[in-house]
Amino acid sequence: MSGVNAIRSAFLDYFGKNGHEIVASGPLVPRNDPTLMFTNAGMVQFKNVFTGLETRPYLRAVTSQKCVRAGGKHNDLDNVGYTARHHTFFEMLGNFSFGDYFKDVAIELAWKLITREFGLDPEKLLVTVYHTDDQAADLWKKIAGLPDERIIRIPTSDNFWAMGDTGPCGPCSEIFYDHGEGIPGGPPGSPDEDGDRFIEIWNLVFMQYEQVTPDERIDLPRPSIDTGMGLERVAAVLQGVHDNYDIDLFRALIEASVEATGVAADGKHRASHRVIADHLRATSFLIADGVLPSNDGRGYVLRRIMRRAMRHAQLLGAREPLMWRLVPALVREMGQAYPELVRGEALITETLKLEESRFRNTLARGLGLLEEATGSLDAGARLDGETAFKLYDTYGFPLDLTQDALRQRDITVDVDGFNVAMERQKAEARANWAGSGEAATEVVWFSVKDKVGATEFLGYETEDAEGVVTALVRDGAQIDAAQTGEEVAIVVNQTPFYGQSGGQVGDTGMMKGEGFSVAISDTQKKGDGVFVHYGKVTSGTMKTGAVVEMQVDHARRTKLRANHSATHLLHEALRETLGTHIAQKGSLVAPDRLRFDFSHPKPIGPEELERVEDMSNAIVLQNSPVETHLMAVDDAIAKGAMALFGEKYGDEVRVVSMGTGISGEKAGKPYSIELCGGTHVRATGDIGLVHIVSEGAVSSGVRRIEALTGAAARHYLDEQEQRLKSAAATLKVAPAEVPARLESLLDERRRLERELAEAKKKLALGGGQAGGAESSSETVAGVGFMGRVVEGVSPKDLKPLADEGKKALGSGIVVFVGTSEDGKASVVVGVTEDLTGRFSAVDLVRKASEAIGGKGGGGRPDMAQAGGPDAAQAGAAIEAVKSAMDG
Ligand code: ALA
Repeated sequence: MSGVNAIRSAFLDYFGKNGHEIVASGPLVPRNDPTLMFTNAGMVQFKNVFTGLETRPYLRAVTSQKCVRAGGKHNDLDNVGYTARHHTFFEMLGNFSFGDYFKDVAIELAWKLITREFGLDPEKLLVTVYHTDDQAADLWKKIAGLPDERIIRIPTSDNFWAMGDTGPCGPCSEIFYDHGEGIPGGPPGSPDEDGDRFIEIWNLVFMQYEQVTPDERIDLPRPSIDTGMGLERVAAVLQGVHDNYDIDLFRALIEASVEATGVAADGKHRASHRVIADHLRATSFLIADGVLPSNDGRGYVLRRIMRRAMRHAQLLGAREPLMWRLVPALVREMGQAYPELVRGEALITETLKLEESRFRNTLARGLGLLEEATGSLDAGARLDGETAFKLYDTYGFPLDLTQDALRQRDITVDVDGFNVAMERQKAEARANWAGSGEAATEVVWFSVKDKVGATEFLGYETEDAEGVVTALVRDGAQIDAAQTGEEVAIVVNQTPFYGQSGGQVGDTGMMKGEGFSVAISDTQKKGDGVFVHYGKVTSGTMKTGAVVEMQVDHARRTKLRANHSATHLLHEALRETLGTHIAQKGSLVAPDRLRFDFSHPKPIGPEELERVEDMSNAIVLQNSPVETHLMAVDDAIAKGAMALFGEKYGDEVRVVSMGTGISGEKAGKPYSIELCGGTHVRATGDIGLVHIVSEGAVSSGVRRIEALTGAAARHYLDEQEQRLKSAAATLKVAPAEVPARLESLLDERRRLERELAEAKKKLALGGGQAGGAESSSETVAGVGFMGRVVEGVSPKDLKPLADEGKKALGSGIVVFVGTSEDGKASVVVGVTEDLTGRFSAVDLVRKASEAIGGKGGGGRPDMAQAGGPDAAQAGAAIEAVKSAMDG
């Protein structure tokens, strides 16, 4: 049977022909679910469609979904390479009905596909159903003609599928393929069901319920269908192999690693080749979707996968970074189905290369240490947690890399000991921090928090409010009062001042109380939810316990709001213009400008930037209200909020949505939806105008745009216009003609420069006298000689002059001393070819150089150059050459 690409297309086409919309894979980092680390099933992107919160223009869909099961709840990382069917990355083929067809059609479509299109022998197929699902059992009998013994009723959760503790769920029916008697294992539900003979290829979920809370289950608006078929598994069956790593796609990737390393695919390094092929897919797809290696969250899972692969590359004896060299093979195999791989190829390659180059040294040293520590251990032994931690801390070995390295020798790691060592290090770090000068100021906030609790933030609704001063801090210690002229950090029980976070800088403003006032120059969030106002007492004395009136600098906050909202618009516009791999990597929302960093492998062209700007401004012109409210995490996800990588979610999150989509999938729906704690404009029109002023690289794979909004954008554009007008006035043309006029002036300037250089040359050769070179030359030591001091000729123009001089003399020696305005001189000596036996230009130029206070000089016997600081001695330099010739 055909290759993986053909099977994928056949699946999509089959359901396409049967009325399903062919939908692109959702990204690996789910946009609609901050509780999931990675997308791990086809239905993730449709979660809200099942529950009825979102509607799409179709009721049937089919996808081939990228999935990662590493890190998080589903983690297959440890087994990859050693088993036939574990992957960190895999593709899930699925068809979906959103309240359209149900069990009967789902079963019929599935059965026809595998038996007719895929041509699987019906005799080799059996199915499971949930034990109470008589309807499904009857349908299998009726539609597929399966006998009772091949319709197995399973009473466990194996046949009830749920996406998590909450969310859509329902009973399911799985289709199994029997690999035949030659392979050990029993049918599903039997004691030896874990054997390899009966392999599940497809799961049909009859979505009927929504688990609202762990204790409450309600009916979905309409019964629906969600199915999932592992592409790698079904390809193995269709290609008549028993092992997923033997399908054409993996063979091609393994072949690439065999070619790059020269190590056979199926010998003792079989597992390493498989790990590399699997991890190449996971890492490349994650990077393409905006994940970059880091030390926490998703980025750390990526780093763990990368480093695990790198150790296996080392086992294969790779002397140079290997993984990046395999990227072209992956793009060749999968780039057509997943164009994001093609778009991200440069970023993937660079990221892999960088990580591997950095890790190589510590890898070798760490493996040396590991060898030392375990050399005397026998199979069944355990490596102590301290050593595993040292490998982690000093050599960058993720714990699973150490475990993997010891696996073949059957040595385990004391994970509890590892965790203890990790905790101890954290405690030490805290203690050190607490003891050191400036850092002590930071530690005080933990005790402030213990004493007075977190600050309540009022600044979404108001910019003026009253509060009670709960703590005053100076130099890391709490104080009771601060006098006029003193700087102090102030904590109030509640505040309208925004504490810097999420890229938005802290508020400034005033605090006033009975007999005192304080100017606030910054607000930060410290410890765990303590807002700290940094201020200077401008009059009176501020005391703990005082009641204060607080006023945020309104004009400044207004600009911050506009810049923050514009950041969201630009984020969405970038995603729409460049693709969903755009992930936020940092942002700065200041009053005067905004900055947004995001993952993207290459510069953004002017046309794309213009589109981003146009889209953002179109939403500004809608002047639609910006909705910002707090809600439970689940409700936020239900709204389709964009989950930002690395954010920590409490019980409540704040969802900010603005604008209405104009075209494409977003038409008529909220344009930008983000989880965000920042402050925003009331309506998009308040932004006034968004203008991008720069685009550039921050680091490999990360770009930055800077933009202005409102009055700042207008002033910037006014200023540009003023500059243009003044340039036009100087040039005495209309502004529109400035570029053409400048072009022609530059042309003219180039021409004049050329002419001037020519004229200078002529003048120099003529020695300023009529009659040209011949009449101005003399004879020294019996040979022709021409010596000239030329003003304002640059060192680089002296050589061509000397060449001309030599030509004019025919046979002889020329010396040109060029003097510059700053009093320095440079000198060139030329000797015609016929005289190089008698005179060396190098020797002569050294004499000249001495005269002008220089040292040395160099060149060839026929042409040499030198310089010196004393242009006043230019004439002496010529004389020096003459006497050297005579001598
Ligand atoms: N969502 C179902 C699964 O992942 C199809 O098995």
